[in-house]
Amino acid sequence: MNLNTLINVNKKKFDIKFKKLLKNKLDQSSLSKAMFYASMNGGKRIRPFLVMESAKIAKISSYDAFIIASCIECIHSYSLIHDDLPSMDDDDYRRGKLSTHKKFNEATAILAGDALHDLAFELISGNINKKNNSTKLKLINYLSLCIGHKGLALGQALDLEFENKKLSKNKILDMYSRKTGKLFEFSFSAPFILKDNNKKNIQFAKEFGMLFGLIFQVIDDLIDEIGTFKKIGKTPGKDVEQGKSTLLQLIGKKQVIDLCNNKINTFIKKNKNKLNQNPILIKMLEFGMDRLN
Ligand code: IPE
Ligand code: IPE
Ligand code: MG
Ligand code: MG
Ligand code: MG
Repeated sequence: MNLNTLINVNKKKFDIKFKKLLKNKLDQSSLSKAMFYASMNGGKRIRPFLVMESAKIAKISSYDAFIIASCIECIHSYSLIHDDLPSMDDDDYRRGKLSTHKKFNEATAILAGDALHDLAFELISGNINKKNNSTKLKLINYLSLCIGHKGLALGQALDLEFENKKLSKNKILDMYSRKTGKLFEFSFSAPFILKDNNKKNIQFAKEFGMLFGLIFQVIDDLIDEIGTFKKIGKTPGKDVEQGKSTLLQLIGKKQVIDLCNNKINTFIKKNKNKLNQNPILIKMLEFGMDRLN
């Protein structure tokens, strides 16, 4: 099965179970409806795919992997609702539909984001089957670090601070690693952490997830420039319009692609053994680049 098919099969399976889970948790309030709208409206479910692949290697149960993936999609959906708000990227469309603040209203969107964030912690603390509480606590602590004031939230703050400024390549990469990389790092390493795997394996998983996430954001920026609404489901050309400091603006398309390929090659050289044992991982990194085509 090629990777695109594998991702789509995983998305279909995930969506069915995730819909059930949300229907079980949520009710008919406007807040619940907005939460459901923002998280069930056609995401690609790339992070859940990373969790599933990692879960196979780390050998955790598919149920625990599903809970971790659901938790991550709640965090991801919250971050997108807030990202689209007028005070942030001011985007009217997401996944080909009205963004949550346009479909509902701004206050409901803000609160739906907050409540999805909280639902993620409800799931990871309450629904994982694994009995060992100290491991679970470690995982929850690590999630907090990945998405908080040093992780996703800081990355988003820097993204806004950096608008209309000329910054170094490293500053932009640091911002990307936080706003996008950290949640991918969590996605791929969470199964290893839950399994109490050794430090080396956990470190490898973190580095793989981070690299995947960095490439994902770099290519997202390229797609923003060359994509169509039909293809990306969000307003193209938005980054230039907002004066976003992207790597693409700083060094151009060719150098951006070279940089990603260099990062992949360095990673492959450093981790030959682990990658030979799991050749799908190289395909996953290549998939990140193929999103351009
Ligand atoms: C969009 O993420 C935000 C970025 C981090 C670039 P995705 O491209 O994974 O969004 P969905 O979930 O598929 O809509
Ligand atoms: C989003 O980056 C990163 C998040 C953590 C939400 P972007 O602002 O580039 O994402 P899109 O292009 O709106 O999906
Ligand atoms: Mg943004
Ligand atoms: Mg945005
Ligand atoms: Mg973007």
